[in-house]
Amino acid sequence: MNLKAGLLSLVVVCGACSQVPQKEDVVKDSFDFAGRQLKYAIAQVDSAKTKLAEEGSQKKPVSPRAIEDDGSFKMVASRDWTSGFFPGELWYMYEYTQDDYWKEQAQAFTANIEDQKTNSGTHDMGFKMYCSFGNGYRLTKDATYKDILMQSAAILTSRYKPTVGCIRSWDHNSDKWQCPVIIDNMMNLELLYWAFRESGDSTYYNIATNHARTTMKNHFRADYSSYHVVDYDTLTGSVLHRQTHQGYNDESAWARGQAWGLYGYTMCYRETKLPEFLSQAENIANYIFTSPAMPEDLVAYWDFNAPNIPDEPRDVSAASLMACALYELSMYNAEKAPLYKRWADTIVDSLSKNYRAPLNGDYGFLLLHSTGARTFERDVPLVYADYYFLEALLKKAKLEKEGTAIL
Ligand code: GLY
Repeated sequence: MNLKAGLLSLVVVCGACSQVPQKEDVVKDSFDFAGRQLKYAIAQVDSAKTKLAEEGSQKKPVSPRAIEDDGSFKMVASRDWTSGFFPGELWYMYEYTQDDYWKEQAQAFTANIEDQKTNSGTHDMGFKMYCSFGNGYRLTKDATYKDILMQSAAILTSRYKPTVGCIRSWDHNSDKWQCPVIIDNMMNLELLYWAFRESGDSTYYNIATNHARTTMKNHFRADYSSYHVVDYDTLTGSVLHRQTHQGYNDESAWARGQAWGLYGYTMCYRETKLPEFLSQAENIANYIFTSPAMPEDLVAYWDFNAPNIPDEPRDVSAASLMACALYELSMYNAEKAPLYKRWADTIVDSLSKNYRAPLNGDYGFLLLHSTGARTFERDVPLVYADYYFLEALLKKAKLEKEGTAIL
């Protein structure tokens, strides 16, 4: 082949190359969408607040939570357990884009919930403060944020019951439960491990680790599915009863509960390197992903034992959480890493392709089809589904680029 003919064939080949669709970058595509959609969400929040002020309402909503069954926008006050997720999403936007617009928005929404640092009436401190101030501190090293987080962690430890070996979750329904501990509480331990790392005070480490161990002992069934609530006798520390309050029934496996457990034990392994937590996380993953109730796109139904699968709502929030946990879990088992990453990638691809809200619709939520509980928020967008989706995207990007999914 002479030079001219060679160049010509190269041009032909390259022309053909340009016809081949490039592998889609799900992370970039999703963050591009999230950036536009979250600007719309901020406008929705502003107009909802203006309307309330004009009506003379005493309500002080700070962040979006969901869409109500009647189609209205559900905003929450700082005391709600979900108030930290929207600020957290804005921090994730800042992390991805490094654009100061997102930093300023994140700072403003984060500041709105500072009053929660002294709220000792809830175990949800971690959800509220670590997702907002925690991400803010990680990204800015703002010393004020550190102080607020340390105060929050100290308050959270006031709920620890040494006889039980757990942090008490709920104070409501005290006629029904003595010391209820819910599987969700595993997530709040991350704030305590952070406080241990920052302060060197082993009290935080010990409380978190005891809580994780007690939960491992009492919340799980032989197949590694978990109950939602375990109620303890405050005097003896013994188990009074086990329930699944937000799921289908007491013996069912509520999808988000399984996801809290998976994420929780993966995080506990990261923080302690105790093998018992790694094997717990892997056993939970095995339960979830070998369940016959898991659909092909790996976006779980809201409860693995819901009676009408496949005609049951999904829970995108559970799926987002599972993806976050699996990216990290893939770092801890070289043999299973491809499997865990494949499951996580399948979830992320499914969510970005088939569960996305319309641009400038649905009050600016990113994803549709989450389920809060058996009796409320069924098949709606939920702020924490969006938060953990953005987290999963960041973890995926970091894992692929730097070999670590730890943000
Ligand atoms: N932490 C409450 C819930 O998962 O609904």
